[in-house]
Amino acid sequence: MASVWLMGQVRAFEDQEAYRARGGFQALQYALSVSPETVVKLVQSSGLRGRGGAGFPTGRKWQGVRANPGPRTVIVNGEEGEPGSQKDTWLMRNRPHLVLEGALIAAWAMEADNLYFYLSVEDWVARQRLEAAVRTWQGSPEFWPLAVELVAVPHTYVAGEETAAVAAVEGELARPRFKPPRPFEAGVRGQPTLVQNVETLAHLPYILREGPEAFRQVGTASSPGTLLVTLRGAVQRPGVYEVAMGTPLGVVIEKAGGGLHPGRQWRGVLTGGYFGGFVGPDPDIRLDFEGMQAAGGSLGNGELTVLDDRTCPLELAGAVTRFFAVESCGQCGVCQRLTKTLAELVADLAVGRGGEEVVQRLARYGEGMRLRGACALPDGAVAAVRTLLKVFPDAVASHLVQGRCEACVES
Ligand SMILES: Cc1cc2nc3c(=O)[nH]c(=O)nc-3n(C[C@H](O)[C@H](O)[C@H](O)COP(=O)(O)O)c2cc1C
Ligand code: SF4
Repeated sequence: MASVWLMGQVRAFEDQEAYRARGGFQALQYALSVSPETVVKLVQSSGLRGRGGAGFPTGRKWQGVRANPGPRTVIVNGEEGEPGSQKDTWLMRNRPHLVLEGALIAAWAMEADNLYFYLSVEDWVARQRLEAAVRTWQGSPEFWPLAVELVAVPHTYVAGEETAAVAAVEGELARPRFKPPRPFEAGVRGQPTLVQNVETLAHLPYILREGPEAFRQVGTASSPGTLLVTLRGAVQRPGVYEVAMGTPLGVVIEKAGGGLHPGRQWRGVLTGGYFGGFVGPDPDIRLDFEGMQAAGGSLGNGELTVLDDRTCPLELAGAVTRFFAVESCGQCGVCQRLTKTLAELVADLAVGRGGEEVVQRLARYGEGMRLRGACALPDGAVAAVRTLLKVFPDAVASHLVQGRCEACVES
């Protein structure tokens, strides 16, 4: 289990002095001493991939933004819409200077004029600490003419989607827009805009200070570095942990999470927040983008909800599908109707109403709903349904007939 650079040795809040003492802001100084193009190349060779959900290669994204003429904008995406995820909040609250340094490096690499920290209005602790960090550094020689602003919006699931972030920064409702254009082409006020997850940015100071090779020494060839995992559910020690990419799932659950409670049986994991779908209880599944996908789940934002024999998968899938039905912002008819239908069908199945027809409809809708909206929200509801049927056929069969399963009886 690697616990390397994001969290450092101490878990408590790290002020500017403590951050500086462990080499903070050296990376920014280095970045400012070389050209923005050099910074882009270093990030490209590090192999860093986005930690906001999709795992898109950061260097390639940066090239895409820079291919469009400036002025350019950077948005630090700290909205963290997944209901159980805590990693970006943890970073903003406890490592605000690390997040700020990463954001400034990205802004330098984009030759940006504007930098926005974008987060939920409910997270006033993160907001205060980021504001304080920005105040400490404004006016110091490290800053080139760069306008830095915090934008806080009411918390919703879709508010973290990149075009919703752009809309919110422009003063509109934080709702996804139809693409194209994507923000890298035309984002805030038509400017090429980099929207980057907080954790992704927090990896940059290490990459710039220690070099891309050092970053690649941890993790796997295609998913280098560490990631922050939000571990929840049936483990003894839920929390946020920094682990090496590629760490086996069983090791994460045992070593970070302290294992399951005594006497309980491991039943599976809901991966990538609510978005990524279920995987079975396989301790060898690698915790990286490819490993999770091969197992039928998704690494997503690194959030893992562990299920034991007292967790009813139908109950969890019901919560997930209801969540997506409520969080659908209603712009796309197909998303609004079908997320609602999926939630109703899972609720029917859970109580044994509707017979085999319900399972068949779930399977059909599940496959047919992909990529039909302005954003990928429906895919999350689909993934939960599709993987529920695949990973937990016994529980599904039991609910179909009796309206309950062994976990319902146990709990
Ligand atoms: C419905 C939806 C919600 C999203 N919510 C978030 C979020 O809360 N935080 C986040 O960083 N990315 C979120 N994303 C992904 C962003 O659109 C974007 O890809 C990401 O911020 C890019 O950062 P990265 O390349 O560093 O991962 C969401 C995407 C979708 C489709
Ligand atoms: S797909 Fe759904 S959540 Fe996304 S923009 Fe359309 S209605 Fe809103």
